[in-house]
Amino acid sequence: MEKYSVVIAGGGSTFTPGIVLMLLNHRQRLPLRQIKFYDNDAERQETIAKACEILLREKAPEIAFSYTTDPEKAFTDVDFVMAHIRVGKYAMREKDEKIPLRYNVLGQETCGPGGIAYGMRSIGAILEMIDFMEKYSPNAWMLNYSNPAAIVAEATRRLRPNSKIINICDMPVGIEERMAEILGLKSRQEMIVKYYGLNHFGWWSDIRDRKGHDLMPKLKEHVAKYGYVVNPEAHRETEQSWNDTFAKVKDVYAVDPDTLPNTYLKYYLFPDYVVRHSDPTYTRANEVMEHREKNVFAIAREIIEKGTAEHCRFETDAHATYIVDLAEAIAFNTKARMLLIVENGGAIENFDPTAMVEIPCIIGSSGYEKTCIGQIPQFQKGLMEQQAAVEKLVVEAWIHGSYQKLWQALTLSKTVPSASVARQILDDLIDANRGYWPELK
Ligand code: NAD
Ligand code: G6P
Ligand code: MN
Repeated sequence: MEKYSVVIAGGGSTFTPGIVLMLLNHRQRLPLRQIKFYDNDAERQETIAKACEILLREKAPEIAFSYTTDPEKAFTDVDFVMAHIRVGKYAMREKDEKIPLRYNVLGQETCGPGGIAYGMRSIGAILEMIDFMEKYSPNAWMLNYSNPAAIVAEATRRLRPNSKIINICDMPVGIEERMAEILGLKSRQEMIVKYYGLNHFGWWSDIRDRKGHDLMPKLKEHVAKYGYVVNPEAHRETEQSWNDTFAKVKDVYAVDPDTLPNTYLKYYLFPDYVVRHSDPTYTRANEVMEHREKNVFAIAREIIEKGTAEHCRFETDAHATYIVDLAEAIAFNTKARMLLIVENGGAIENFDPTAMVEIPCIIGSSGYEKTCIGQIPQFQKGLMEQQAAVEKLVVEAWIHGSYQKLWQALTLSKTVPSASVARQILDDLIDANRGYWPELK
């Protein structure tokens, strides 16, 4: 049987050990001959890589492992690039979240001005990695889950339209796991879903079991009372901020009880609430640095010191299996049905054909086929048109180095109250992002 070679880009990411464990656990589905790490921060990557090297040597000595900051070494002889980079790392995420809060506008990793700032940093780095991949392994696929996925996807649509990149997000997967729990199902794989929207901006319109029974009524009954909060006892690992987000879904759902919403809609439908519940001196970036980052790096250092990963405390992120599902679907032509971020092209009939939308696709060895969504309701259509325009304007601004377009993008964001506030935030973001953004004229 053919064995595959994978490079994980963003080798120093806090998610890398979980992805490695997940790849190991699913080796029967995606047999591996090689795993490589690639990062542009040698020091950060080395800690994670040395620990994973020990882990792999003990658990899977037959898989060749290496790590590098050299693109040629990283991207040569690979079948899949699993990309999860964070340009500017948490230090810049913190600024993305805190700068808008100065003006009482929400600060979020991928939504509103923070997401726009992050998008302006990410576009160039993702394009560069696509070019490395195409130069050194022209047949490879990039499975990209680097954020902000919506803006990255629009940029690759515009600037690398023929590249083998698939953009994907784990939020619907995480929510569907909760839905399966609400329904008392063994796994989300027992549900067939219809979903449409943009990335971090979508709705489930239909959920059935494999026999075709409608599961929406039972889900709606739960969501109307508790949002996506399920059995807190079984979810002790869920941090408070995420728990609040799952609970707030109750109010998001009330705005349109015909569908079930993605958690991220909270930022667009209740921005005032989000600002009121934010601490401008301590945001999610601080929480992540204090918890996940500290924890993952401490475990890595412990493995390196002990020289063994025997009692390793690295955890696999259950959601991460969607990455193997995707690679397996391409490698073995499984025709799996998954949500991907793809060019609309008529799949949503009454929506811009050039917008990047998140919809179910059927995946096989030659890529993906989109499923047909048909007409969407006025409420969703209106929201999506505004947000898709924001994403397109950001990419325009990046391409042309245009201050005007970026100001328009911020002004159009539903999270920003006026053009004057947009301008103040933009000027602060420009200052903070020197060296990361193209020069704006
Ligand atoms: P992190 O900062 O821990 O890791 C990111 C790594 O990327 C760092 O080691 C950094 O040095 C590296 N990097 C930055 N710029 C690079 C470049 N140009 N080339 C190569 N490497 C580069 O971040 P994290 O919290 O682990 O998140 C990683 C990424 O995954 C983020 O973009 C995050 O938003 C994304 N993410 C996406 C999903 C999804 O569903 N789409 C889920 C979780 C995380
Ligand atoms: C979800 C989203 C990702 C996002 C992450 C943030 O998984 O789908 O796109 O990056 O949440 O999580 P964090 O723990 O870093 O705040
Ligand atoms: Mn996501």
